[in-house]
Parts: sequence; structure tokens; C-alpha cells
Amino acid sequence: MAEQIVTKLWRVSPDDPSPEELQEAVAALRAGYLVAFPTETVYGLGADALNPEAVRRIFVAKGRPADNPLIVHVSSVDMARELTGCHDQLAVVERLADAFWPGPLTVVVTRTPAIPDVVTAGLHTVGLRWPAHPVAHRLIQLLGRPVAAPSANRSGRPSPTLAEHVLADLNGRIAGVIDGGPCAVGLESSVVDVTQWPPVLLRPGGVTPADLERVLGEPVEIHPNIDAAAVVESDEPVRSPGMKYVHYAPVTPVVLLEPPVDAQRVRAAAAAERSKGSRVGLLLTEETAKAGFDCPVLLLGSRAHPETIGESLFRLLRKIDDGSYDVVIVEGIEPVGVGLAVMNRLRRAATVRLTV
Ligand code: TXA
Ligand code: MG
Repeated sequence: MAEQIVTKLWRVSPDDPSPEELQEAVAALRAGYLVAFPTETVYGLGADALNPEAVRRIFVAKGRPADNPLIVHVSSVDMARELTGCHDQLAVVERLADAFWPGPLTVVVTRTPAIPDVVTAGLHTVGLRWPAHPVAHRLIQLLGRPVAAPSANRSGRPSPTLAEHVLADLNGRIAGVIDGGPCAVGLESSVVDVTQWPPVLLRPGGVTPADLERVLGEPVEIHPNIDAAAVVESDEPVRSPGMKYVHYAPVTPVVLLEPPVDAQRVRAAAAAERSKGSRVGLLLTEETAKAGFDCPVLLLGSRAHPETIGESLFRLLRKIDDGSYDVVIVEGIEPVGVGLAVMNRLRRAATVRLTV
């Protein structure tokens, strides 16, 4: 059971938070407590990564399975270097850092013994990320130590992209939330494993396979689970343990239309659900929504700019649980570029996937 505590809300200047604004949050982290903070991807639930007691609290507060490792957040390439246990991997880390850090990329490397076992769920590797959000960056810098942080949601829920999402899931279970406004990317970081060559993409995000290839000079391997449906039923060792759990699931059932989607397919799916007496909501791109529908439509963003869909996706997956709908039909997009990350999350959120 998580201890019941009073969760503080700290409002700070998102673009340039002062040390004074972050003082209480830093003190809480230093004392071994949990603080949620904004990053450019999603809100993270942070603990001092070098304090095993503090890190254990993350698993309790989230209800997170102990075999799912945490990402360690740093505020410089030097900090990342100190946590990397294999000299040969440093050149790749530096090349990726040069191109994408600070930013939405997590690099999995062989770890040093300085990182407690509880952080990595006993794996000999660790995921490292230097976040670009000024609040996240300043917080780690002021603490002067790496910060372990998963997304700040209860396990299995959509990741939070607003401070109010964090409070909805974790109020009374953590020391505080730093409110730095909405997260710009809206999807969690891309995770790439560089302990082998070519590196393997374990989770798609804002940094695309094409972006990685441009910098590495070779295509990354795409882990097969990226395209898979919600739960991987297998006795094989799981490369990225996070991949085997149901994720991002709203309470309201989600019917995902695999691409290509047009107005006619949406209408047919809506009619089928309505004939069961269900109140139907539609989650559509701006392009498809233009056709006009006789059910409520929530706008996902533009198909031509999948990053706009990434930005709104988790907020909408939470919104559809407001009691208005018995089922929500969601338009899928082409799984390329940021679309690969969007579809990876949608396939895990979906109750049913309909192909053409
Ligand atoms: O954008 C993000 O990555 C956010 C913000 C807060 O930085 N964090 C985040 O953490 O999404 P989390 O814990 O929700 O997802 C981390 C993912 C999980 O799928 C986990 O299994 C994988 O990264 N991961 C972490 N360490 C790993 C490792 N050593 N090897 C393989 N996968 C790892
Ligand atoms: Mg998560």
C-alpha cells in the first residue's frame, strides 16, 4: 500500500524556472520522496536514481511491476558517460547525443554498478535520457544527481501530458507535482538499444527510425513487438519489459480502424456500434472529420502532420473516459515517421482492431 500523503502542486515558469521556484521539489527529491515534473514528451515521476529506497517508492506509487526498468534522466552528456559501463558504446552515445539531446530519445547502454538494481529491474543495461524541457533540465541540474522517472501515470493508464492528469492518477501518493504546462511532444521518448550493432529500436517516439539512420549511417533494427497488439504472450525473455504490459488503456472500449481510413468506413463502424445501443464517439483526423458525421467528433490533429496527433493523443484518450461514450471509434494513420509511434500506442490502447 502507498502511504497517504498530501501532494503539493508547484506552479513554475515553464520556459525559465528559477532555483527558488524549484527549491521545495529539489528538497523533496533529496530527502528520497517522489516528485512529478514536466518533460517535453510526457510528465515523469522522479526519484533520486542513486537512492534505492526512493526508487522503490516509484513502483509502489504507480503500481508498476518490479520487472519493468526505469529510464534515468541526466542533465549533461558527462552525466550519461559516468553511468555508461561499456567504453565501446560511448562513441555511439555521443553521436546520438550530439544529434538528439537534450530531447525525446532514450539510449539503452550497459550500466555501471553505481545504478541500483531496483532502477533497472536487475538488467545489466540502463536507459539514459537528457530531457529538453527547461523544468526537467533545471531540476536534475539543481539536484546534481541523475533522476529515475517513468511516466507519471498509474500503471496501465495513458501517460500524463498535463499536471492535472498526474493528480488524477497519483494525488495523495507522491510528494508533489511541478506544473510546467502541457507537454509539446505528447508521446514518450523513442528508446534505442545501442548494446548491439546495428542498434535496435525498442519503442518508437518523436525521434523516428529515419532520423536515427541519418545519424548512425545505417538503418536501426525495428523490434518486432513494436507492431504487435496489446499483450505479448511469450516465454521468450522480453527485451524491453514495458512492451509486454497492456498500456495506455482508457476505461471506455476503443475500436481502432487500421489505415487506410475514409468516411465510409467510419460511418459503417459507427452504425454497427449504434445498432447495439451504444453511445458512439469518434476520434478523427481533421482531414476525415471534414466529411461530417452524426456522432460527436473529437479532433486528433492532422494526418499530414502526425506530430500534431502525437501531441493530442494521450489527452484525448483520457477525455473519452468522461462518461459521454460507451465506445469510441478511432482513426488509425499510416505507421511511418511519428505515425509509427502513434499507431504503436493506439494498438495497445485498442480493445478491437478493424482492418479493411
Ligand atoms: O519520454 C519518456 O521516455 C518518459 C519521460 C518521463 O522521460 N518516460 C517514460 O518512462 O516513458 P516509462 O517507464 O513509462 O517507459 C520506459 C520504457 C519502458 O517500456 C521500459 O521497459 C523501457 O523504457 N526501458 C527502460 N529501461 C530499459 C532497459 N534497460 N532496457 C530495455 N528497455 C528499457
Ligand atoms: Mg509509461
